[in-house]
Amino acid sequence: MLVSAKEMLEKARDGKYAVGQFNINNLEWTKSILLTAQEMNSPVILGVSCGAGKYMTGFKTVASMVSAMIDDLKITVPVALHLDHGTYEACFDCIDAGFSSIMFDGSHYSIDENVEKTKELVAICKEKGLSLEAEVGSIGGEEDGVIGMGGVTMLAAGIGNIHGKYPANWPGLSFETLAAVKEKVGDMPLVLHGGTGIPEDMIKKAISLGVAKINVNTECQLAFAAATRKYIEDGKDLEGKGFDPRKLLAPGCEAIKETVREKINLFGSAGKA
Ligand code: 13P
Repeated sequence: MLVSAKEMLEKARDGKYAVGQFNINNLEWTKSILLTAQEMNSPVILGVSCGAGKYMTGFKTVASMVSAMIDDLKITVPVALHLDHGTYEACFDCIDAGFSSIMFDGSHYSIDENVEKTKELVAICKEKGLSLEAEVGSIGGEEDGVIGMGGVTMLAAGIGNIHGKYPANWPGLSFETLAAVKEKVGDMPLVLHGGTGIPEDMIKKAISLGVAKINVNTECQLAFAAATRKYIEDGKDLEGKGFDPRKLLAPGCEAIKETVREKINLFGSAGKA
């Protein structure tokens, strides 16, 4: 059964660890992540971006696939199905489709409009028992508006983190900003986006400062692509029935599992289901 992310994130905040959000792209991704979370007895959040939702033919397909897979694979650890960087419209689509958690990314609106739309979604999510992630791109003079968003389950704040690979000259996370946000939002669990390629010591420090959810997407994609490339470059697809998609995609799936295992260990959520 899918659960809201609220309880798992509150436990993570109190226990000083973080729950991984791993983005899914297809059946193989979903299966690999769910099996690894189960193997490690860890709660897990499956992230679905609007683009990935569209690729998988729609949010209804995604919700049905994930729910059925949890049953068929006998997954017993807490699993939240979460819309990642949702538009206002996508939030409603995912609520209808049966997601258990949504992120409304209103960071490109004015802070007033972001707060107004987030509040509207807070009311709906509260009524339906879903968790809600809100995003603000920066702090500064607008923090008060953020605190006004009572009922938000978790908050993603820009602290120098970037989606995808970090450039060589990246100055690192701004822990000063993180600490300032934390002070303003109290015990609301914080979310660190752009989890790919952040050095381990920075991850640990971020968790110690209140980050309870860390999003990872690109790293699984890179691991999958490298393992698949090796399989083909080694000519394995040309040996026997090596072209069978179940064989062709197996090394990539193992690579995703290994990446998820490493992250779950680093984030400290193993054994916390
Ligand atoms: P990465 O792709 O950098 O891991 O970021 C994932 C993310 O933050 C999804 O919202």
